[in-house]
Amino acid sequence: MTEHVASLRELSVPPRAIMTPGPVEVDPRVLRAMSMPILGQFDPAFTQIMNEVMEMLRETFQTKNHWSYPIDGTSRAGLEAVIASLIEPGDKMLVPIYGRFGDLFVEIGERYGAEIHTITCPWGTVFDPEDIISAIKKVRPKVVALVHGETSTGRMQPLAEVGLACRELDTLLVVDAVATFGGADVRVDEWCLDAVISGGQKCLSVPSGIAPITYNKRVEKVILSRKKVERGIATEEDRQAAAGRLPIRSNYFDLSQLQDYWSERRLNHHTEATSMEYALHEGLRLVLDEGLEKRFARHRLNEAALMAGIEAMGLELFGDPSCKMPTVTCVLVPEGVNADEVRSVLLNQFGIEIAGSFGSLQGKIWRIGTMGYGCRKDKVLAVLAGLEASLIRCGASVRRGEALQAAMDVYDKQPVG
Ligand SMILES: Cc1ncc(COP(=O)(O)O)c(C=O)c1O
Repeated sequence: MTEHVASLRELSVPPRAIMTPGPVEVDPRVLRAMSMPILGQFDPAFTQIMNEVMEMLRETFQTKNHWSYPIDGTSRAGLEAVIASLIEPGDKMLVPIYGRFGDLFVEIGERYGAEIHTITCPWGTVFDPEDIISAIKKVRPKVVALVHGETSTGRMQPLAEVGLACRELDTLLVVDAVATFGGADVRVDEWCLDAVISGGQKCLSVPSGIAPITYNKRVEKVILSRKKVERGIATEEDRQAAAGRLPIRSNYFDLSQLQDYWSERRLNHHTEATSMEYALHEGLRLVLDEGLEKRFARHRLNEAALMAGIEAMGLELFGDPSCKMPTVTCVLVPEGVNADEVRSVLLNQFGIEIAGSFGSLQGKIWRIGTMGYGCRKDKVLAVLAGLEASLIRCGASVRRGEALQAAMDVYDKQPVG
């Protein structure tokens, strides 16, 4: 052992209020669940937990889809699993892009050989659903991949009309609901969404590393038409069934095999991340204990208080307000203010983290997340107080003392239930 290694102490992390659009603070109940002893991945005590997770996912996704289960990996693992399992080389994929995470769909689709078609709209806005529908009619894609809540710009794309059109035009609609799931309405069945991907580290207040997905029979049909069980565990029957099929190109993200682990067959694939399953189980219990409607209302209330405080301070909100995400608030950095300097004063003096943005918005906006466990009155008041003080420290001119009063007015009118 080197001297340096010998001097290392037990891990100790500074206390933080994480008010970014993810990751967010993990609920203490989730942390407690994660400290449970590990179970074997085929132990009936564990498979019962898996079944309960599936059941709770169906309720949270507001779906009857049998296939509602998590992918082990971060949210992009969920995105990649769905795209890898649907796209065969040469398949047409339409991606309406209104921020960074639309580009991520393009990136993944390209790598699996999709013929990509994109439409774009300015960052800070979303698409008129009719524009997406016209593009679908023109391109006739196998898959439309659309982000529900675009965290890079804080906008939320309406999905219902697009979902209906996809059903009528026999196109599969794949939705990234990573940043809305558990914090805003995601009506999988009512909006005709074929596959939806979410994430743990945002409104569920679970650590990053687990990505719940759901998909319907239309998606399952494509997946099963590509099914190939891994060599080392395939039966003769599996081998015969797979003969002549073009298998899914990824092994890790092969939903046809993952389905077999999440079914009564319990076919071995990778070693399940059991502690993350415990975390998700508790995260979902928290959502359903609170109730979806009540939870969404809580997110809207804290969003309203935050926005009132930001504006009362004299700062301007970024983006079209008619399509604002309730879970992410974007604030324009005032002229002459260094965005990163303010963020570091906020972190170093108050232990509060907010985010910058990407691409053309880098240095131009701050993004504040009000998600899950972090979506609370005390956190909103703390971030407003800290932001005001940090701005003053960095030489910005703000209306002093107004922000907290404006936010408290919002809470007084509608006390937190
Ligand atoms: C809307 C959206 N989609 C996808 C992702 C990718 O998630 P991950 O970083 O967990 O892979 C993020 C992450 O911030 C996101 O905000």
